[in-house]
Amino acid sequence: MKIVHIVGARPNFMKIAPVMEAFARAGDVEQVLVHTGQHYDEELSKYFFEDLGLPRPDVDLGVGSGSHGVQTGRVMIALEPVLERERPDWVFTVGDVNSTVAAALVAAKLGIRVAHVEAGLRSGDWTMPEEINRVVTDRLSDALFTTEPSANENLLREGVPGERIHFVGNVMIDTLEGHREAAAALGVAEGMGLRPGAYLLVTLHRPSNVDAPERLGALLTALGEVAVGTELPVVIPLHPRTSARVRELGLESLLEPLVVLPPLRYLEFLGLMQDAAGVITDSGGIQEETTVLGVPCVTVRPNTERPVTITHGTNRLYDGDPHGLLDVVREALLAESELSRPPLWDGHAAGRIAEIVVRGA
Ligand code: UD1
Repeated sequence: MKIVHIVGARPNFMKIAPVMEAFARAGDVEQVLVHTGQHYDEELSKYFFEDLGLPRPDVDLGVGSGSHGVQTGRVMIALEPVLERERPDWVFTVGDVNSTVAAALVAAKLGIRVAHVEAGLRSGDWTMPEEINRVVTDRLSDALFTTEPSANENLLREGVPGERIHFVGNVMIDTLEGHREAAAALGVAEGMGLRPGAYLLVTLHRPSNVDAPERLGALLTALGEVAVGTELPVVIPLHPRTSARVRELGLESLLEPLVVLPPLRYLEFLGLMQDAAGVITDSGGIQEETTVLGVPCVTVRPNTERPVTITHGTNRLYDGDPHGLLDVVREALLAESELSRPPLWDGHAAGRIAEIVVRGA
């Protein structure tokens, strides 16, 4: 059996790593790794490959940044000849970035079976580019691997035949479990002079939070208020998209109360996250990782496609006036956490995927 795996952006790398390992263990499977080049910064891309032990990509499409149409189109144009040449039995896509939907479109039109890992998540928010990517990718997929029960319900409601849907758990948690110790051993917090359990960690990069000048300004101001109000250092590794907006809008002074870092490597970020008192984020994956780590998480969004992080985890949504963020963070830090892991988030999701695909081939 031959599989072509597609990755493009940072959150894809930690999802594909355990899947490739599981297929390598499963035996007679030829695997080809294609990096679209959507993320090309070393911090966003190369160091992730090193930290995760991912093989070097066999093919790098080098598409880079651009508008959604340009980026998606470039991936499609560059990927088509690769898939025509490789003619795999399956194209594996993960997550919800532009590279995911572009790859699914090309493969489906070539008559190659598409597998989607992390299928079925729905925010119901059509203004989110990722929501469009999820719905279209799932419609084009022959095997849909889901992380939580809500995803199965969403897919069945949309008319996806039940036999295509496989509830396997969360491959990103496989990666987390495999790297927790190595991340802790780095002692990142101590190395930065931070006391474990006595700082807050923030990530912000969604267009809805960082592209509108008033929204970004209000959120950064609110983070300054959180730093003062909680008396905890607020650490923020800045995504390139966010730092570009801060520069363009001249908002640098709002970063002064915060501890600003460049984007971190996977292990560094995991180390900081597991020792944080709490996390404030608009990321999808971090809602899931904090759930398993038992770290309180405030997600600055009106909705989540990952409701299990609220029902079974440490996540809460906040989309009110940014000035209210301090109170919500205080509440989150004080909340009694009754940790119960979402079902099948046990570190063995990728093994289940490989078994289903190899058995059904
Ligand atoms: C992408 C994904 C998002 C994911 C995020 C994780 C889509 C629609 N969005 O958003 O779902 O949560 O990755 O990081 O696919 N840039 C660099 N260097 C890079 C890559 C990007 O400087 O290596 C800058 C460029 O200014 C670029 C901007 O970041 O225009 C946005 O990059 P892009 O890949 O379009 O989307 P992300 O915001 O990273």
